[in-house]
Amino acid sequence: MSSQNLVARLDACAAVIEKRAPGFRPKLGIILGSGLGAFADSLEKPVSIDYRELPDFPTSSVHGHAGRLVLGYRGAVPVVAMQGRVHFYEGYSPEQVSFPARVLCRLGVKHLTVTNAAGGINLGFQVGDLMAITDHLNLSGYNPLVGPNDDTLGPRFPDMSNAYDPAALEVLRAVARAEGVNLREGVYVSLSGPSYETPAEIRMLRTLGGDAVGMSTVPEVIVASHMNVKVTGISCITNLAAGISKQKLSHAEVSETANLVKGTFTKLLGRFLDQVAAQV
Ligand code: HPA
Repeated sequence: MSSQNLVARLDACAAVIEKRAPGFRPKLGIILGSGLGAFADSLEKPVSIDYRELPDFPTSSVHGHAGRLVLGYRGAVPVVAMQGRVHFYEGYSPEQVSFPARVLCRLGVKHLTVTNAAGGINLGFQVGDLMAITDHLNLSGYNPLVGPNDDTLGPRFPDMSNAYDPAALEVLRAVARAEGVNLREGVYVSLSGPSYETPAEIRMLRTLGGDAVGMSTVPEVIVASHMNVKVTGISCITNLAAGISKQKLSHAEVSETANLVKGTFTKLLGRFLDQVAAQV
């Protein structure tokens, strides 16, 4: 990573994006998690930028994460979508993990939708369920805001009381109802990974109030809150968390379920974005 300060590095990415898509000012940002990247393919007049073309943008090593930024339109609404993200467990620093989300915020998006694959902790959840994230537990052991604060980006101590925008959550509920999607709701727990949890850890997380568990998303939500960008979170419950069923956990199962849910997920996300775009 270059030694330039954070704002200069964000602006260097924005400059490359401006060159590839002159004048494009995305209104909405979306981060697509494991196996959920297909949504970006539905955008109109797309311009795809490989993460490797963007200075300091970390590139993913995980299967199922494509690693490109797609700028395109949903109707008349300009949207920027990240197909794939990087994780702390890949060896990236908290600042690197959250850097792409900062770039989207720096581009001026008015709302950021973050999505992920997650294990279901809540015993009422089923594989393939979609869950609106109502709040999170950051048990990853790190926070991307540790270090000097740049007051031009946001405050030293950002408020996280409404990290998942209540008004947008209401919109998501209404869209799910209209589309006949049985949308679950709950608290997302982030851990560092990469090993999956033990059954004892899952029992602990349930006691603590967690409904789903994963290894991403929270750093992005924290930097978006820092930069005063509203957020919506959607988890795809790709598997039951450790110890709930007899089945062994595997990334293959995670990818397989995400792939099965793709249609419903893409439809829900699209309709949600249409409604949110009308409000921001
Ligand atoms: N645990 C942690 N992360 C995950 C899981 C899980 O069960 N499923 C998908 N991502």
